[in-house]
Amino acid sequence: MTHLTPMSFVETDLDAMAAATGRIAVIVSPDGTLDQPARRANRLAKGAVARLVESDKFSKAKSGQVITLAWPAGMAAEALDILVLDKKADAVALRKAGVALAKVRGTSALTLWTGSRKGAEVIAQGMALRDYRFDDHKSAEADAPEAITIQCKDATAIEAAAAPLLAVAEGAHFTRDLVNEPANVLTTTEFAARLKEMESLGLDVEILEEDVLAELGMRTLLSVGQGSDSPSKVVVMQWRGGAAEDAPLALIGKGVVFDTGGISLKPAGGMEDMTMDMGGAGVVAGAMRALALRKAPANVVGLVGLVENMPSGNATRPGDVVTSMKGDTVEIINTDAEGRLVLADVLWYAQERFEPAAMIDLATLTGAIIIGLGHENAGVFSNNDTFCGDFLAAAAAEGEGAWRMPLGQAYDDQLKSRIADMKNVGGRPGGSITAAQFLQRFVKDDTPWIHLDIAGVASVKSDTAYAPKGATGWGVLALNRLVADQFESD
Ligand code: BES
Ligand code: MN
Ligand code: ZN
Repeated sequence: MTHLTPMSFVETDLDAMAAATGRIAVIVSPDGTLDQPARRANRLAKGAVARLVESDKFSKAKSGQVITLAWPAGMAAEALDILVLDKKADAVALRKAGVALAKVRGTSALTLWTGSRKGAEVIAQGMALRDYRFDDHKSAEADAPEAITIQCKDATAIEAAAAPLLAVAEGAHFTRDLVNEPANVLTTTEFAARLKEMESLGLDVEILEEDVLAELGMRTLLSVGQGSDSPSKVVVMQWRGGAAEDAPLALIGKGVVFDTGGISLKPAGGMEDMTMDMGGAGVVAGAMRALALRKAPANVVGLVGLVENMPSGNATRPGDVVTSMKGDTVEIINTDAEGRLVLADVLWYAQERFEPAAMIDLATLTGAIIIGLGHENAGVFSNNDTFCGDFLAAAAAEGEGAWRMPLGQAYDDQLKSRIADMKNVGGRPGGSITAAQFLQRFVKDDTPWIHLDIAGVASVKSDTAYAPKGATGWGVLALNRLVADQFESD
């Protein structure tokens, strides 16, 4: 859940090792060099660490891996975890090392001795990212995870360096909670309420209700939610940490709390996965939370379109024509291509109201992106090479997979309609690209824009680099890094 496991940073005290309960972890380089805490662990455990280093198992171990010595002699701990870690490990490798430790520890107390290694705060972030469980709907009381202690050099400085990193981890946990939540719990109303609660963090949160959306002319967005009993909403979250005159970065999220496909009903098999179809909105919410928690000196506005796509007597029919807020008309030939209808109006509204310096939308938009890129990379589409390069660099620095895809006139031509300005589907070939082309029709030429198709990465059925199976929180780290690198005033 959103609450991070308690983590404390204390100044190295090797004499505390013998009596430490729970698990203890020390670091050994792949070349077999033991640092000071590892030497102490070795001495207490009567040479067990040195014997491990001599073993075949160790020679095959890779940097980032954890090898456990269970019930070690000479210490009170239930396990001695040896973290094999290269001295030159970069931030991604340090974070993944933290993930590996958290995975091994489960819920047991853990004390990690980092000695004089740099980057303890990044290992801590990795542990926090992985240390996540979604057990709200389990009736049996789960074991509460015990505390994590990091024994390090300059503990006060490390704790200060860790604070913004742990804020980002908390943002990712918030995203995962939203994405994992079933649709009968996370209705549009409940979603908006959870965002409204973030006002306590200093965000300004506005909820635009259906009458206001109708007044604004957001008919493509409203057409998606009109078959549902849950009211459609747009939520605007503003973080003003930068200079008053700086135009904001706008983050826009698809928040379809459940996607049945509407009248173009999806097949039953796997339809339950469509509870994650608000993943884009979830990432926007998590990123805004992270920025507020770490008090980022930047102006960022998050806008999410919250709707439910249901069939009913009042639902949109295939063939219906609706007018967007921009004024362009859309022939809805498939009601299951609904995400783009939601985003079209929110993108337009964001530009009209905020004149953003740049704009990024996130959406679980197409099944086709999963066919193309699997679960390893989000699809990245952009009208601006510099901005796109900045984002790809941020994603790479944080270890979140992102791969650029093309745009082009020939793809746009696939959206021609006989009776309206465009249709909402361009056929099967290049399905993710024609979806992006649809969105681009609602982006002004001078607005640097990125569209992230996160259908393959928002929720995954196996463990990922930073998360246990289920919602991943993909994107919170990359967006936070992009803001830190490109949009902060000091
Ligand atoms: N929400 C889906 C896309 C999706 C599929 C997300 C699988 C996550 C996992 C989207 O609204 C959708 O239904 N897209 C259709 C578009 C088609 C009708 C042109 C699709 O991908 O099949
Ligand atoms: Mn759909
Ligand atoms: Zn959808």
